[in-house]
Amino acid sequence: MAKVIYPGTFDPVTNGHLDIIKRAVELFEEVIVTVAKNPSKTCLFTIEERVEMLKESLKGFNRVKVDWFDGLVVEHARNVGAVGIIRGLRAVSDFEYEFQMALMNRKLADDITTILLMPHARYTYLNSTIVRNLAQFNGKVSDFVPEIVDKKLKEKFGSK
Ligand code: COA
Repeated sequence: MAKVIYPGTFDPVTNGHLDIIKRAVELFEEVIVTVAKNPSKTCLFTIEERVEMLKESLKGFNRVKVDWFDGLVVEHARNVGAVGIIRGLRAVSDFEYEFQMALMNRKLADDITTILLMPHARYTYLNSTIVRNLAQFNGKVSDFVPEIVDKKLKEKFGSK
């Protein structure tokens, strides 16, 4: 039984991410969902907001923690004593990016293994950008995100 991290930008967390977390919890002793500061992306939500939304969304989950990191994902894995990095694979289009990242992370830290999990098929087309865009133009996002995220998106965009 091992500890793993699930890193991502989570801007914001979606039901697709929760699906991956549920699957990871069935396989591992502890799952640390870790929010990346990720300077390569301009985020709608601050790191504190992203962490808070995850914590609220994961309230009913046992053996799951939420934290954040700034730097290399493998270093964070080492710091928290994780032996693996969980990533989601939604479609073939994700594969090349995930494959490159997994091999680079292995080069950096051979003792930390990347584990790719596939979410339910209903989430294959979902990502945080689509959710943000929908919310911005007053589209209904409640089928795709936890309740707290729906609420926060409405607050951000001043919609009802
Ligand atoms: N359901 C729904 N959407 C999903 C999903 C799922 N199961 N899995 C991924 N996504 C979406 C995300 O919402 C996100 O959407 P967006 O781009 O529209 O915002 C997109 O897929 C990318 O997801 P994410 O998992 O957040 O990846 P990322 O590329 O933004 O960040 C990090 C991945 C955090 C690991 C990485 O970029 C990082 O910051 N690493 C630190 C630096 C480092 O270690 N580099 C060396 C490694 S090569």
